[in-house]
Amino acid sequence: GNGLNKDVADVLYSRDAISKRVSALGKEIAEDFKGKRPLIVGILKGCFMFFSDLCKEIDPVPDGCEVHFAKARSYEGNTCESNQSVKLTFLGGEDEGELIRGRHVVLVEDIVDTGNTLKAMLGALKGLGAKSVTVATFLDKKCRRTVPDLELGYVGFECPDAFVIGYGMDYGEKYRTLPYVGVLKEDVYQTS
Ligand code: PRP
Ligand code: MN
Ligand code: MG
Repeated sequence: GNGLNKDVADVLYSRDAISKRVSALGKEIAEDFKGKRPLIVGILKGCFMFFSDLCKEIDPVPDGCEVHFAKARSYEGNTCESNQSVKLTFLGGEDEGELIRGRHVVLVEDIVDTGNTLKAMLGALKGLGAKSVTVATFLDKKCRRTVPDLELGYVGFECPDAFVIGYGMDYGEKYRTLPYVGVLKEDVYQTS
Protein backbone atom coordinates (compact mmCIF):
# COMPACT_ATOMS: atom_id res chain seq x y z
CA GLY A 1 0.00 0.00 0.00
CA ASN A 2 0.95 3.67 0.07
CA GLY A 3 1.31 3.67 3.84
CA LEU A 4 -1.93 5.57 4.32
CA ASN A 5 -4.76 4.47 6.54
CA LYS A 6 -7.32 2.70 4.34
CA ASP A 7 -10.07 5.13 5.33
CA VAL A 8 -8.12 8.18 4.20
CA ALA A 9 -9.07 9.59 0.80
CA ASP A 10 -6.39 12.28 0.70
CA VAL A 11 -3.61 13.76 2.76
CA LEU A 12 -4.40 17.40 3.43
CA TYR A 13 -1.37 18.27 5.57
CA SER A 14 1.61 15.94 5.64
CA ARG A 15 3.68 15.23 8.70
CA ASP A 16 6.41 17.41 7.26
CA ALA A 17 4.12 20.32 6.40
CA ILE A 18 2.61 20.16 9.90
CA SER A 19 5.97 20.12 11.56
CA LYS A 20 7.18 23.18 9.64
CA ARG A 21 4.01 25.18 10.23
CA VAL A 22 3.68 24.32 13.93
CA SER A 23 7.30 25.09 14.52
CA ALA A 24 6.88 28.53 12.96
CA LEU A 25 3.73 29.20 14.99
CA GLY A 26 5.41 28.18 18.23
CA LYS A 27 8.36 30.47 17.57
CA GLU A 28 5.96 33.33 16.87
CA ILE A 29 4.15 32.73 20.16
CA ALA A 30 7.43 32.50 22.05
CA GLU A 31 8.47 35.84 20.61
CA ASP A 32 5.12 37.53 21.29
CA PHE A 33 4.93 36.28 24.88
CA LYS A 34 8.54 36.93 25.82
CA GLY A 35 8.68 37.69 29.53
CA LYS A 36 4.95 37.16 30.03
CA ARG A 37 5.03 33.55 31.22
CA PRO A 38 1.79 32.50 29.52
CA LEU A 39 -0.52 29.76 30.76
CA ILE A 40 -1.12 27.40 27.86
CA VAL A 41 -4.58 25.82 28.09
CA GLY A 42 -5.44 22.88 25.83
CA ILE A 43 -8.97 21.74 25.02
CA LEU A 44 -8.99 17.94 25.03
CA LYS A 45 -8.99 15.59 23.41
CA GLY A 46 -8.36 16.92 19.93
CA CYS A 47 -5.58 19.32 20.83
CA PHE A 48 -3.13 16.80 22.24
CA MET A 49 -0.72 16.48 19.33
CA PHE A 50 -0.74 20.13 18.33
CA PHE A 51 -0.46 21.14 21.98
CA SER A 52 2.61 19.06 22.57
CA ASP A 53 4.39 20.08 19.36
CA LEU A 54 3.56 23.73 19.96
CA CYS A 55 4.76 23.79 23.57
CA LYS A 56 8.15 22.40 22.58
CA GLU A 57 8.61 25.49 20.42
CA ILE A 58 7.18 27.95 22.94
CA ASP A 59 9.46 26.66 25.67
CA PRO A 60 12.35 29.13 25.10
CA VAL A 61 10.07 31.90 26.36
CA PRO A 62 11.96 33.20 29.39
CA ASP A 63 10.84 31.35 32.53
CA GLY A 64 9.02 28.80 30.38
CA CYS A 65 5.27 28.43 30.38
CA GLU A 66 2.69 26.48 32.34
CA VAL A 67 0.21 24.02 30.91
CA HIS A 68 -3.37 23.24 31.85
CA PHE A 69 -6.23 21.33 30.25
CA ALA A 70 -9.97 21.51 29.89
CA LYS A 71 -12.55 19.21 28.34
CA ALA A 72 -15.48 20.58 26.41
CA ARG A 73 -18.55 18.55 25.55
CA SER A 74 -21.17 19.85 23.22
CA TYR A 75 -24.80 18.98 23.66
CA GLU A 76 -27.00 19.45 20.66
CA GLY A 77 -30.56 20.36 21.38
CA ASN A 78 -32.75 17.69 19.82
CA THR A 79 -35.19 20.06 18.19
CA CYS A 80 -33.17 23.03 17.04
CA GLU A 81 -29.62 22.95 15.68
CA SER A 82 -28.90 26.48 16.81
CA ASN A 83 -29.72 25.47 20.37
CA GLN A 84 -26.25 24.15 21.09
CA SER A 85 -24.56 24.51 24.45
CA VAL A 86 -21.15 23.43 25.60
CA LYS A 87 -20.29 22.03 29.03
CA LEU A 88 -16.78 22.70 30.27
CA THR A 89 -14.67 20.87 32.80
CA PHE A 90 -11.26 22.13 33.86
CA LEU A 91 -8.94 19.24 34.60
CA GLY A 92 -6.22 18.92 37.18
CA GLY A 93 -8.16 19.69 40.32
CA GLU A 94 -6.66 23.11 41.05
CA ASP A 95 -8.77 26.12 41.94
CA GLU A 96 -9.44 27.56 38.47
CA GLY A 97 -9.99 31.08 39.74
CA GLU A 98 -6.63 31.02 41.47
CA LEU A 99 -4.93 29.49 38.45
CA ILE A 100 -6.29 31.74 35.73
CA ARG A 101 -6.88 35.11 37.39
CA GLY A 102 -4.49 37.73 36.07
CA ARG A 103 -2.75 35.37 33.64
CA HIS A 104 -2.06 35.66 29.96
CA VAL A 105 -3.74 32.56 28.56
CA VAL A 106 -2.99 30.91 25.23
CA LEU A 107 -5.96 28.70 24.40
CA VAL A 108 -5.01 25.77 22.18
CA GLU A 109 -7.45 24.01 19.83
CA ASP A 110 -6.99 21.51 17.02
CA ILE A 111 -9.86 22.95 15.01
CA VAL A 112 -12.39 25.76 15.19
CA ASP A 113 -15.51 24.70 13.36
CA THR A 114 -18.84 26.33 14.33
CA GLY A 115 -16.98 28.17 17.10
CA ASN A 116 -19.28 26.96 19.88
CA THR A 117 -16.54 25.26 21.88
CA LEU A 118 -14.26 28.24 21.64
CA LYS A 119 -16.98 30.69 22.55
CA ALA A 120 -17.70 28.73 25.74
CA MET A 121 -14.02 28.53 26.65
CA LEU A 122 -13.41 32.22 26.01
CA GLY A 123 -16.40 33.11 28.16
CA ALA A 124 -15.22 30.85 30.98
CA LEU A 125 -11.64 32.13 30.92
CA LYS A 126 -12.70 35.76 30.90
CA GLY A 127 -15.15 35.00 33.71
CA LEU A 128 -12.27 33.54 35.72
CA GLY A 129 -10.35 36.78 35.32
CA ALA A 130 -7.71 35.98 32.70
CA LYS A 131 -5.65 39.07 31.85
CA SER A 132 -5.71 38.13 28.18
CA VAL A 133 -6.86 35.17 26.13
CA THR A 134 -5.23 34.44 22.79
CA VAL A 135 -6.37 31.55 20.64
CA ALA A 136 -3.96 29.25 18.85
CA THR A 137 -5.73 26.79 16.59
CA PHE A 138 -4.13 24.31 14.27
CA LEU A 139 -7.03 24.47 11.80
CA ASP A 140 -9.59 27.15 11.10
CA LYS A 141 -12.64 25.81 9.30
CA LYS A 142 -14.00 29.27 8.60
CA CYS A 143 -16.68 28.15 6.18
CA ARG A 144 -18.53 26.36 9.00
CA ARG A 145 -18.53 29.20 11.51
CA THR A 146 -21.81 30.14 13.18
CA VAL A 147 -20.37 32.16 16.07
CA PRO A 148 -19.58 35.64 14.74
CA ASP A 149 -16.47 37.72 15.38
CA LEU A 150 -14.20 35.10 16.93
CA GLU A 151 -10.67 36.38 16.98
CA LEU A 152 -8.05 33.74 16.26
CA GLY A 153 -4.59 34.91 17.22
CA TYR A 154 -2.64 32.07 15.63
CA VAL A 155 -3.85 29.75 12.89
CA GLY A 156 -1.92 26.83 11.45
CA PHE A 157 -3.95 26.39 8.30
CA GLU A 158 -7.27 27.56 6.96
CA CYS A 159 -9.07 24.28 6.44
CA PRO A 160 -11.37 23.49 3.51
CA ASP A 161 -14.87 22.16 4.12
CA ALA A 162 -13.82 18.51 4.30
CA PHE A 163 -14.17 15.80 6.94
CA VAL A 164 -10.69 15.96 8.45
CA ILE A 165 -9.09 13.42 10.75
CA GLY A 166 -5.71 12.76 12.28
CA TYR A 167 -3.14 14.78 14.25
CA GLY A 168 -5.50 14.60 17.22
CA MET A 169 -8.77 14.78 15.34
CA ASP A 170 -11.16 11.83 15.44
CA TYR A 171 -14.21 10.32 13.90
CA GLY A 172 -15.94 8.15 16.50
CA GLU A 173 -12.69 8.08 18.53
CA LYS A 174 -10.70 6.67 15.61
CA TYR A 175 -7.78 8.17 13.65
CA ARG A 176 -6.53 10.55 16.37
CA THR A 177 -3.02 9.15 16.28
CA LEU A 178 -2.42 9.54 12.55
CA PRO A 179 0.67 11.76 12.25
CA TYR A 180 -0.83 13.66 9.31
CA VAL A 181 -4.21 15.27 8.57
CA GLY A 182 -6.30 13.33 6.11
CA VAL A 183 -9.70 13.62 4.51
CA LEU A 184 -11.98 10.78 5.57
CA LYS A 185 -13.44 8.69 2.77
CA GLU A 186 -17.08 9.47 2.29
CA ASP A 187 -18.29 5.89 2.57
CA VAL A 188 -16.83 5.67 6.08
CA TYR A 189 -19.12 8.29 7.55
CA GLN A 190 -22.06 7.69 5.25
CA THR A 191 -22.52 4.03 6.10
CA SER A 192 -21.93 4.25 9.86
C1 PRP B 1 -13.91 19.05 18.23
C2 PRP B 1 -12.64 19.86 18.08
C3 PRP B 1 -12.98 21.18 18.71
C4 PRP B 1 -14.46 21.31 18.42
C5 PRP B 1 -14.67 22.26 17.30
O1 PRP B 1 -13.94 18.55 19.54
O2 PRP B 1 -11.56 19.25 18.73
O3 PRP B 1 -12.75 21.17 20.09
O4 PRP B 1 -14.94 20.01 18.04
O5 PRP B 1 -16.03 22.34 16.95
P1 PRP B 1 -16.90 23.63 17.17
O6 PRP B 1 -16.10 24.82 16.71
O7 PRP B 1 -18.08 23.38 16.27
O8 PRP B 1 -17.27 23.72 18.60
P2 PRP B 1 -14.96 17.41 19.99
O9 PRP B 1 -16.13 18.07 20.65
O10 PRP B 1 -15.23 16.49 18.86
O11 PRP B 1 -14.18 16.65 21.14
P3 PRP B 1 -12.72 15.96 21.01
O12 PRP B 1 -11.73 17.07 20.91
O13 PRP B 1 -12.59 15.21 22.27
O14 PRP B 1 -12.76 15.10 19.78
MN1 MN C 1 -11.99 19.19 20.75
MG1 MG D 1 -14.23 14.88 18.32
